[in-house]
Amino acid sequence: MFGSDGCLRDYRQTCGRMTALGALFGPFAAFVYIFLHLCCRGAFSFVEKPSVCRISFYHSSKRGDLVATWDLRGMKHHVLICNGGTCLRHGGDDVTTAVREEIARLGLDDAVHTTRTRCNGRCQDACVMIVYPQGIWYRQMTPERAKEVVRAHLDEGLPLLKWATYEYEGELVLTPAGEREAPSGKRKTEHAAKGVKG
Ligand code: FES
Repeated sequence: MFGSDGCLRDYRQTCGRMTALGALFGPFAAFVYIFLHLCCRGAFSFVEKPSVCRISFYHSSKRGDLVATWDLRGMKHHVLICNGGTCLRHGGDDVTTAVREEIARLGLDDAVHTTRTRCNGRCQDACVMIVYPQGIWYRQMTPERAKEVVRAHLDEGLPLLKWATYEYEGELVLTPAGEREAPSGKRKTEHAAKGVKG
């Protein structure tokens, strides 16, 4: 139910203190405690599913960052949205927002996990978006195109290969559209020989 032992321990401590306060001072004191605790530490989000009560737990790390621990069971797709420098200059932020809004609109939050990434090494295809487990590398995403990918690929299971540079067939291979339109670039080994990173 929890992503880490730390989350579980924290949850148990909170419940224990609530129970003790409730027993000593009544339920109102327990609710005041939990309210103050949530204000200081972040927020709980309880998501009811037919067979599972999934608890996503936001809390502050020791360094004070807000961290999230998701229960990823049931995820069918992982979408990597490039937020490297070039992709951000080509609308990466708007593409990210559009993808997440479309996922929410279609009720796919429990089936699709999205992650912003740094450079994926295909800057000439910016903005890049990659969908796993199919290993489809989409290129030149705009908010409108990205929403269409969400509808076709993530919701209906039909990858839009017309905008894909690569697909995965045991290894990454160029799609017909990728052969035709995408710049080929250099092999990573050539970059490494010249000391180029990324
Ligand atoms: S910044 Fe997106 S592929 Fe390089």
